[in-house]
Amino acid sequence: MKIIMLGAPGAGKGTQAAKLAEKYQIPHISTGDIFRANIKQQTELGKKAKSYMDQGLLVPDELVVDLVVDRLRAEDCKNGYILDGFPRTIPQAQSLDRALDEDGTKIDYAIDIEVPDENIVNRMSGRRTCPDCGATYHMVHMPTKVEGICDVCGKEIVLRDDDQPETVQKRLDVYHEQTSPLIEYYQAKKVLKEIDGTKEIEEIFQSLVEMMQ
Ligand code: AP5
Ligand code: MG
Repeated sequence: MKIIMLGAPGAGKGTQAAKLAEKYQIPHISTGDIFRANIKQQTELGKKAKSYMDQGLLVPDELVVDLVVDRLRAEDCKNGYILDGFPRTIPQAQSLDRALDEDGTKIDYAIDIEVPDENIVNRMSGRRTCPDCGATYHMVHMPTKVEGICDVCGKEIVLRDDDQPETVQKRLDVYHEQTSPLIEYYQAKKVLKEIDGTKEIEEIFQSLVEMMQ
C-alpha cells in the first residue's frame, strides 16, 4: 500500500502516519524527520535545509526529490510506504509520478487531514518532540508516560525550532500557497481521501483504517 499524507503543518500527518506504519508494517518516510536528522548530524544537506526550515519556508525541490525517490526504491519499500510531508509542491508531485511511472507503480491513497488554521497554532504550542528519535507528543492530547521524557528512548522532549507561533503562521501561509494545490492534483487522479482532523487521534485512525479496507 502506497500512501501520501497531505495536510497543513500540525494537521496530524506524522501522528497518523506512525500509527498506519505500525499497523501495516510499512516504512514511515517523513521528509521533515530526514532533514531534522541531517541537521542533528550537521551534514551539508542539514545545513542547507535548516536555513529554510527555521524561516518556515520550503526546502528547494532539488534538495528533496532525488532523496525521496532513492528512498522509495529501497528494499524495505517493496510492500509499500507512507510518505509524510512529500510531495509538497506540484513539481515534487510531478517528479514523484515520473519516478513511479518508471517503476510501473502508483499511489493508492492521498489522505488529506483537514484542520482549520485557528486550531493549528494552538495545537502546535502543545507539541513536544524527541530530538533523538523524532517521536511526537502533545502536552494535552498525547502526553508522555513520564512528564517531559520520551516514551521510546528516554530523552528529554523539546519544542521544535520551527514551532514558535510566528514561524507556524509562516508555515501555514506557505502551505496554502504551495502545498494545498496538491489536493486538487490528487482528486483529479481519483486517489484523494479527505478526513476531519479535528476529531480525536484514535477516531481519525479508525476512520482511516476503515477507509482503506
Ligand atoms: P514537517 O516536519 O513535515 O512539518 P509540517 O508539514 O509543518 O508538519 P508537522 O510535522 O509540523 O505536523 P504534522 O501534520 O506531522 O502533525 P503532528 O502529527 O506532529 O516539515 C518541516 C519543514 O521541513 C518544512 O517546513 C520544510 O521547511 C521542510 N520540508 C519537509 N518536507 C519538505 C518537502 N517535501 N519539500 C520542501 N521542504 C520540506 O501533530 C501536531 C501536534 O498535534 C502533535 O503534538 C500531535 O500530538 C497533536 N495532534 C495530532 N493529531 C491530533 C488530534 N487529532 N487532536 C489533537 N491533537 C493532535
Ligand atoms: Mg510531522
